Amino acid sequence: MGKEEKGILVVDVGTTKVCALIGEEKEGKLWITGMGLVPSKGLKKGTIINIEEATQSIKNAIEKAKSQAKIPIESIYTSITGSHIKSLSASGVIALKEKVVTPSEVEEVLFSAQTIELPQDRIILHIIPQEFVIDQNRGILQPIGMSGVRLEANVRLITCNRSAFQNLLRCFENLDIEVDGVIVQGLASGESVLTSEEKELGVILIDFGGGTTDVAIYWDNVLRYIFSLPIGGELLTNDLAIGLRTSRIEAEKIKIKNGVCLRDLLEEDEIIELTGIGDRPPRKISKKILAEIIELRIKELIEIIEKELYREVFIDKDPFDIKSKIGSGIVITGGSSLLPGLVYLFEQMLDLPTRIGFPFKLAGLAEETHHPQFATSVGMLLYAYNLQERVKEERKEGIFHKLKKGFIKFLKGG
Ligand SMILES: Nc1ncnc2c1ncn2[C@@H]1O[C@H](COP(=O)(O)OP(=O)(O)OP(=O)(O)O)[C@@H](O)[C@H]1O
Ligand SMILES: [Mg+2]
Repeated sequence: MGKEEKGILVVDVGTTKVCALIGEEKEGKLWITGMGLVPSKGLKKGTIINIEEATQSIKNAIEKAKSQAKIPIESIYTSITGSHIKSLSASGVIALKEKVVTPSEVEEVLFSAQTIELPQDRIILHIIPQEFVIDQNRGILQPIGMSGVRLEANVRLITCNRSAFQNLLRCFENLDIEVDGVIVQGLASGESVLTSEEKELGVILIDFGGGTTDVAIYWDNVLRYIFSLPIGGELLTNDLAIGLRTSRIEAEKIKIKNGVCLRDLLEEDEIIELTGIGDRPPRKISKKILAEIIELRIKELIEIIEKELYREVFIDKDPFDIKSKIGSGIVITGGSSLLPGLVYLFEQMLDLPTRIGFPFKLAGLAEETHHPQFATSVGMLLYAYNLQERVKEERKEGIFHKLKKGFIKFLKGG
């Protein structure tokens, strides 16, 4: 970031918490030097339903992070999720002027791939190249410098609902903050918990958060599909509150302390005490009942994920064995991934090796952010940092980016 140190601010707006992180480059690497974590208000299942409340949560998180890292901010990114996040295939084609692919022609062909007609209420957030085709040669991932007369790009467009996007930006406008980019949460989480080997071999990333479960699928080092389900840890808390006839606050505490998502994991039953509501005396409940309630909901979630995987992944292809594409299995992250028994249930039901994804440890606030609930925010920082580094490198070579830097301006048509 040069002599004049400047930071990147990322704000992950989740259903249960807003997490702002400030990253800066020191000694040639990315450091996390500021963190602001506050409970989130005004969101439901990943989407803003109350702009004033959401604005206040965002403000508090940013202020906390800024009080820790006193550095001028160069760029700001935020995150979006919700069941309105979709992806679709598109393609673009251009003629090659010099008969050799240049970096700006790659930009041009990607730009042409997003000129697809979409319904008025959708906007494109990310353009993910799937393969380039030069003349008749398919499956090219790095086309620069290759010879040919015709360059085609097959891409995956990640889109979202326009008003959900605008409501998110409105929160920042209310705070007089200009946002440089909006990153889809599932994509960001993949940046901080997946190894490049996993992305190469094929992996299903599942961010099991508070209000949503974001699923991203990679193979051959490329993000192939992404979707978000309106199911998260809050639903488990609700189920427990109803099933155990207690308050949501008590249910949340019990879930974190004693929650298990597999009845059979408990060899012997244990009796736990529930604080009574109002003046009522405490009650005793069996831990097996607790596990049963959670197990039911998790099994339902896994079945929905499986169904969605088939619907999304197989819809535009001949059916093929997903396992041959997903060589490395499943990685679960997000706050709810810590439920004991979850890895076992996923392995049993989807028959794929599964692990919990903790974000990579960066320099600075490494310990504080090394928790699955920070997969998205740490991933956003990595995404933004890598993007800026790449843009800087390419600018040195005289390449102008329409799509990468300042893509908000591009989305607004500016
Ligand atoms: N140890 C734990 N065991 C079980 N659940 C947990 C644990 N720790 C946190 N959770 C749950 O994780 C959820 C919050 O996760 P996370 O911070 O990833 O969500 P979020 O980013 O706010 O929401 P979303 O991404 O869905 O919009 C809460 O529902 C919380 O109950
Ligand atoms: Mg989240």
